[in-house]
Amino acid sequence: MAIIFSEEQKVFSLRTKKTTYQIKISHLGYLLHVYYGDRIEDADISEVIVGHDRGFSGNPNQAGNDRAFSLDTLPQEFTGAGLGDYRVSSIDVQNHDGSNAFDGRYESHRIYDGKYTMKGLPGLRAAEGDHAATLEITLKDDVTGLRVILCYGVFEEADIITRTVLVENGGQDQILLRKIMSVTMDYPESDFDLIHFDGRHAMEREMHRDKLAFGQLSLGSMRGASSHQHNPFVILAESGTDEDRGGCFGFSFVYSGNFVCTVEKDQVEQARLVMGIHPDRFTWPMAPGESFQAPEVIMAYSSEGLTGLSHIYHDAFRTGLCDSRFMKEKRPVLLNSWEASYFDFTHDSLVAMAKKAVALGVDLFVLDDGWFGERHDDTAALGDWNVNYEKLPYGLDGLTKEVNALGLEMGLWVEPEMISEDSRLYELHPEWCLKIPGRPVTRSRYQLVLDLSRQDVQDFIYDFLDRTLNSANISYIKWDMNRSISEVFSAQAQNNEMGTILHKYILGLYAILDKITHAHPDVLFEGCSGGGGRFDAGMLCYHPQIWCSDNTDAINRLKIQYGTSFGYPVSSMGAHVSVCPNHQTGRTVPLKTRGIVAMNGTFGYELDPNKMTDEELAECNEMTQTFKKYNDLIFNGDYYRLESPYSRKGFAAWAFVSKDKEEALVNIVLTDKEANSVQRYLRLKGIQEDAFYEVEGLGYCWSGRALMKAGIPINTGAGEYEAMQYHLYKRSL
Ligand code: GLA
Repeated sequence: MAIIFSEEQKVFSLRTKKTTYQIKISHLGYLLHVYYGDRIEDADISEVIVGHDRGFSGNPNQAGNDRAFSLDTLPQEFTGAGLGDYRVSSIDVQNHDGSNAFDGRYESHRIYDGKYTMKGLPGLRAAEGDHAATLEITLKDDVTGLRVILCYGVFEEADIITRTVLVENGGQDQILLRKIMSVTMDYPESDFDLIHFDGRHAMEREMHRDKLAFGQLSLGSMRGASSHQHNPFVILAESGTDEDRGGCFGFSFVYSGNFVCTVEKDQVEQARLVMGIHPDRFTWPMAPGESFQAPEVIMAYSSEGLTGLSHIYHDAFRTGLCDSRFMKEKRPVLLNSWEASYFDFTHDSLVAMAKKAVALGVDLFVLDDGWFGERHDDTAALGDWNVNYEKLPYGLDGLTKEVNALGLEMGLWVEPEMISEDSRLYELHPEWCLKIPGRPVTRSRYQLVLDLSRQDVQDFIYDFLDRTLNSANISYIKWDMNRSISEVFSAQAQNNEMGTILHKYILGLYAILDKITHAHPDVLFEGCSGGGGRFDAGMLCYHPQIWCSDNTDAINRLKIQYGTSFGYPVSSMGAHVSVCPNHQTGRTVPLKTRGIVAMNGTFGYELDPNKMTDEELAECNEMTQTFKKYNDLIFNGDYYRLESPYSRKGFAAWAFVSKDKEEALVNIVLTDKEANSVQRYLRLKGIQEDAFYEVEGLGYCWSGRALMKAGIPINTGAGEYEAMQYHLYKRSL
């Protein structure tokens, strides 16, 4: 049984394959957090919670003379508000009488088979063969009638616990919800590092690691999207944890809008982590009987270091987020027209590009920006989703037929959430964008944001997408979103509802995505937001893959893809081979290296094959075949970060190891050159110690143990940014 309740001890035990999570209902009805970590079978270890009489840490009135029972120091599952817990809180409300108090005490609980449902929000599903169970605990404030229902989804095999919170106004008066965290995790000690993934446009998700210090460490986004700047996936790692050893906790927010993650080290060196929708500018009025559903957080714990934690997320995300058939089937290798020709193309130039793309061995030709309305550059036409017949005289259908006749599938770029002021749509519906009456609106890339909280806007987006997909044999959509949101004000909303708009925007976005992806199950959807500006578990529920970054420089990509790999599988990372000198950095990197780095992702091209030499075309074709050959190993194998791109050894390396350990693909990229170079070695991981492996390309046949203990010598004398790829397979003796 994954969830056990001991009636006598008032203790809940949640058990996954390798972890246990324990909660106790205290004598006053507060929910205390007892334990989360390696699996233990004990029914009740709540004596680990030791209360102390501490100055300036007050006691609930009902605690009587017990000065050791303080909400300011006790570990809790969900905090109250305004009642003497001075640490970062789970909730903030404004009650009808103007007070800000919430005092949630245990009212009831429910344990049931299967996972809880969340209206309008995506979440993790149990994989085939796994089993999810739910624990719901209802906390109630007796004065206001506000209820908070804490939901725990327990995925035994996947080793995951998901959490969410439903708030219900069970009172007689209106309540204003001002903050609601999806997860609150208390720890009795704080010797942790917070590992987080941050950056900027074209340099996303670089890994950073900070030791917890007294006070709060907070990161998040107020941009209306999860953002390039901070990713809604964080790790709390015990001090000293590395790839192979140490305890670490992961928190992945299944949400694509504003978020916050705050970790606090308190006065007595305990730690608390909260994660949820960013409370700044969030307000949600709740009439009696109304409820609010917070998005989900996917939690995991590994005592086997960061690699172990990544494997839990990779396995779960590969099966449990998106129900697209492309999660199980081979995805097409694509060629995207963006870096090849930007806005400058004609029907003929596209057909010529597609014709040559055949020589690269690709399956899909993607027409990026510029095919619609008067879209000649990025100043105009977003919203005018009708084909531009001057550029494409035979329409999308005519172009698609020619591309299909070459044996290629056809794909298309769209940016549905945006509107250009210079567009027919803006002339017709200036009220459809987010802007504040009487104030000039902020432009970004010359564009404004459509108000997706409106049903009419959602219908417009769905209709144009559906119409476009029905107008031609389109097999792939790249769904882009190219600015941060500001001036959050909806022409349709009441004055007191503006704090709801950004969340309603995300709900609107999810509703459209859910409807369009299910109406067109044979279309592969790739997410994008100026590259990886909305790379999160929420979007991965609809998009099997997301364009990882607008930066295609293979050496920069090493860091971007390395950071991304901690919380997301390789099969979710859009990665392409582009030309050199690279358009973003001006750097020149060997073609083979660009290929090997793009194989650390979904693999494709973003270049004009007509500008390539025959030798380059042949080399690329070989790369495509290599990717296709190892596609299953790359997408479904276990991922090992072998040498970090930040390492001072002058190389980065990673490997894919098949689940049955029969084969592995090892990848090495030289990142720096030094004179009189030092000999370096790469020690493999994850293969079978007592088996022998043939290392193709090196001519060795060594034991797994030798490959993992002695390691492969690195050819540090090779040329700048050169890369090596070795396939290993188990030799039967
Ligand atoms: C964004 C995307 C690019 C490309 C352009 C088109 O920047 O990230 O890949 O699609 O938009 O305008």
